[in-house]
Amino acid sequence: MKILIIYESRYGNGKILAAGLQELLRNKSQDAEIFSVRNLKPSTLPWADIYVFSSPVRMFMLPLSMRSFLRRFKPVKEGAKYALMTTYMDPRVKALEFMEKLLQSKGMIKITDGFKVKVMDMKGPLEEGYRERLEKFTAELIKS
Ligand SMILES: Cc1cc2nc3c(=O)[nH]c(=O)nc-3n(C[C@H](O)[C@H](O)[C@H](O)COP(=O)(O)O)c2cc1C
Repeated sequence: MKILIIYESRYGNGKILAAGLQELLRNKSQDAEIFSVRNLKPSTLPWADIYVFSSPVRMFMLPLSMRSFLRRFKPVKEGAKYALMTTYMDPRVKALEFMEKLLQSKGMIKITDGFKVKVMDMKGPLEEGYRERLEKFTAELIKS
């Protein structure tokens, strides 16, 4: 399966998560690519079986880069699948809701509940034990 992972990350927490997912998917022989949302134009994003979007919340909002990307993003074909990830400090974890809202009405199919990982401080580390959960999330993507 072709899986594109599109992430926003300032201090690297989200990047570690996105790279970890790519590694696990590749270990399972999936064609997984990872892109920073900052270097990506929605119009040039190729077709994928699954799009994974990963973003934190900053100052109670989705960062502008991810917000404007998701607003303009339109999958090449109807019926593309997607999944969401975030790293967070505030346990209300609004990033998933915010991304969900922007993806509504694009005709995409959500595969599974959003994957969230707490960070112990702004610059990490990610909470203990998240890798095992990430392995389960990877398996859910593959079986979808
Ligand atoms: C300027 C700034 C504002 C933040 N505001 C929020 C916030 O409103 N809610 C929240 O849950 N986390 C907030 N955080 C924490 C980030 O969501 C968290 O550190 C996340 O893991 C950052 O991911 P990144 O390292 O990939 O950028 C903020 C972090 C920074 C640096």
